[in-house]
Amino acid sequence: VEDRILKMRRLFERFLPTRGNDGRSKDSKVVVGIAAMDKKAKSKQMNQILHRLKAYGEFDIIIYGDETILHKPIEEWPLCDCLLSWHSDGFPLEKAQEYAKLRGPFCVNDLPQQHSLLDRTQVYRTLVAHHIPVPKHIIVERNGLQAGEDPEGFIETEDYVELNGIRINKPFVEKPEYAEDHNIHIYYPHSMGGGVKRLFRKVNDKSSHYDSQHSGAVRRDGNYIYEEFLATGGTDVKVYTVGPRYAHAEARKSPVVDGKVLRTADGKEMRFPVLLTPQEKEVARQVVMAFNQNVCGFDLLRSEKGKSFVCDVNGWSFVKNSKRYYDDSAGILRSMILGAVAPQHLAAMPTPNVTFSSINPSVHKQSQSHLYGLEQDDAALLMDADEPDEGLEGELASCIDDAEIARTDQRSENDELRCVLAVIRHGDRTPKQKLKLHTTAEPLLSLFQKYKDAKGKQAKLKSPGQLQELLNITRQLLHSWERPQEETLQARPSAQHHDPKRGNVSSQDVSANNATSNAAAAAAAAAAAG
Ligand SMILES: Nc1ncnc2c1ncn2[C@@H]1O[C@H](COP(=O)(O)OP(=O)(O)OP(=O)(O)O)[C@@H](O)[C@H]1O
Ligand SMILES: [Mg+2]
Repeated sequence: VEDRILKMRRLFERFLPTRGNDGRSKDSKVVVGIAAMDKKAKSKQMNQILHRLKAYGEFDIIIYGDETILHKPIEEWPLCDCLLSWHSDGFPLEKAQEYAKLRGPFCVNDLPQQHSLLDRTQVYRTLVAHHIPVPKHIIVERNGLQAGEDPEGFIETEDYVELNGIRINKPFVEKPEYAEDHNIHIYYPHSMGGGVKRLFRKVNDKSSHYDSQHSGAVRRDGNYIYEEFLATGGTDVKVYTVGPRYAHAEARKSPVVDGKVLRTADGKEMRFPVLLTPQEKEVARQVVMAFNQNVCGFDLLRSEKGKSFVCDVNGWSFVKNSKRYYDDSAGILRSMILGAVAPQHLAAMPTPNVTFSSINPSVHKQSQSHLYGLEQDDAALLMDADEPDEGLEGELASCIDDAEIARTDQRSENDELRCVLAVIRHGDRTPKQKLKLHTTAEPLLSLFQKYKDAKGKQAKLKSPGQLQELLNITRQLLHSWERPQEETLQARPSAQHHDPKRGNVSSQDVSANNATSNAAAAAAAAAAAG
């Protein structure tokens, strides 16, 4: 009920000239509170995005800091209109939840649902409930059982595990319930040499280790998910959403391959550009909605069978080292926040004149078009490195005249692209049926003389009457060639009537006038046959 009241309050505040609760004027800044552990709230990526958000001039940004979050009562936490708050190691999630309940700010990422992100079984259940594709799996829970005891309906054999009749064959993946436990095991069947591959959090350049001596028996010290191992060709797709209609994606080598982390020359984990398919974009939207996390990272497995499955939802996370992504994220967050807490700002100032000092104007212009929640998956085309877009920007900049950029900037200062209208036609047009032939036939030459153009070089016959004339002549010619003895008979004018507009038209063909193209085709075909 309280939640609903808060939502109603936010909804109706939009129609009031001021925020009401604190009497702020329409022109005052929107306060964005950041309640996350310093390590995350002050991370490089967060700095990049906040720097851009601040540059709009519409926001006051307050980072609460570990001291306040951990040690001060929620009543002493600063007030805000919009809260960016997310869980990480050591974060008091319940306390933040209480704070959000007390103050009722607009939360970019829902706090209560962040509990479920800590539990892989809840993540999978939520995904299934929202019809989001996940690998075939069983959830084996041992709550209330003795150590090592199996739940009813659970069977383990050398080749598979089964729960209540649902069987998962080896190779399968075993995932601990607690999402922060990254000790995931993969069990291989005898046919693949048996043994177990253990995945773990990266240690230097290693992310997994294969144990050929492992008995193959599954762990029994807690709750686990068992899921079919999906062949993906050795890559994971990491997706990063900002709102339901924006997703940046990049691929990385799966730790399952050989456990060796691929790095670029400067030591960063290698990532590859990815374009999401329509199915994957829809999955991204569904994940955002299902977990109520606008800023959300999740993993996709592109099965070699052609479909993609979600195997992990991480909640709040940002792409590393992509200026383009930072620009887009800041723009989308601005629209999202203003839309929720101060739509009058959004309406009054649709395109604030922001200059991101470090951003090439051409790239900046590009990013401005993203402020209205447009789908921006093409961001995923960028290959990110330490200063990733520099090369691209440099290339772009070298092809664009600075003066032209300035002129475009000036022209578009007051303009806003609201829509693009396009008229699109298919390209599968039947080619013209052409035939070249020499003729000395008098009727054809007369026809040419009759309709030749001013230069006397060509005659274009297009009207129904002209085409009918051509058809008549062609038929006559064919007839006379096939049956020379009847030639004189056929040529008699009594078989025709005269139409001054159309020339000679045989009575049987008058009704064919509306089928001129057919007539023309028939004439051409007849000429071809001749
Ligand atoms: N069903 C599966 N089939 C094939 N590979 C899988 C499957 N599930 C997971 N993997 C591989 O194992 C990796 C780790 O799995 P997952 O992302 O679920 O664990 P995690 O430890 O929570 O990861 P993260 O580091 O993203 O939090 C995946 O990136 C993927 O390469
Ligand atoms: Mg993962």
